[in-house]
Amino acid sequence: MKKNKLTVLDIIKKKAQNQKISMLTAYDYPMACLLDDIGIDIVLVGDSLGNVVLGQDSTISVTMEQMLHHTQAVKNGIKKALLVADMPFMSYNVSIEQTIINAGRFLKQAGADAIKLEGANSRILQMVKAVVEAGIPVMGHIGLTPQTAGALGGFKVQGKDANAAKQILENALALEKAGCFSIVFECIPDALAALITQRLSIPTIGIGAGPKCDGQVLVTPDLLGLNQRFTPKFVKKYADLSAIIKKAISEFVQEVNEEKFPDKQHSFTIKPEELNDL
Ligand code: KIV
Repeated sequence: MKKNKLTVLDIIKKKAQNQKISMLTAYDYPMACLLDDIGIDIVLVGDSLGNVVLGQDSTISVTMEQMLHHTQAVKNGIKKALLVADMPFMSYNVSIEQTIINAGRFLKQAGADAIKLEGANSRILQMVKAVVEAGIPVMGHIGLTPQTAGALGGFKVQGKDANAAKQILENALALEKAGCFSIVFECIPDALAALITQRLSIPTIGIGAGPKCDGQVLVTPDLLGLNQRFTPKFVKKYADLSAIIKKAISEFVQEVNEEKFPDKQHSFTIKPEELNDL
């Protein structure tokens, strides 16, 4: 293991020491280098890959091969951060055996440090337990779970009434008991996330779950303004990279059209006598 490389124990320790945890998504080598350079705690290769990189409507059709391919690229850019890979839809629900094999591929083939999977029903809890027992760290994900958003009535805030909130609390406790080292809370009321965060000894990482989670995660292209699709309420845009990229590309096209690029500085020379010989 590389010196200074963060482990799941370091992430758990952060909660005990009251330090916040930062997590962002990456899908390729250049972004992984940038995130790692600035010292992010966790890089997630999310199955949001389907939406923000592959241009699909949902995460349902993302495959194991696609996730492995992108996780390998991200791994090459990481020296320090903990690398977590999302298990895609149906890669962990079919059987315990297949779940362990697929989870193992993320560590063996792609170099991830841990995997994340969505949900907490009795079937998923069995899978979590089995993967943890196989020696693979697992991050849970509850609240709004995009892979099963249809069954939840669409992309909406979860846990708004007492019964639903109690269910999310019970799910979080069950995931902790099953061995998760941390849990993502997506789109749940801030007060509920705060209450559950206090009840758990493992860190909670929120996306649309208020400021009292132990850490925060966003989809990186969303926060950079690289995404032209619908932006959920919980996304804060820290930059408008789309505008910057469009401006740079327009300048390139204009300079090509006007024969201003490439200029002398960006061209190579040959001695006139060599050219004459030719
Ligand atoms: O797929 C993803 O990017 C995620 C984050 C939104 C947590 O699961």
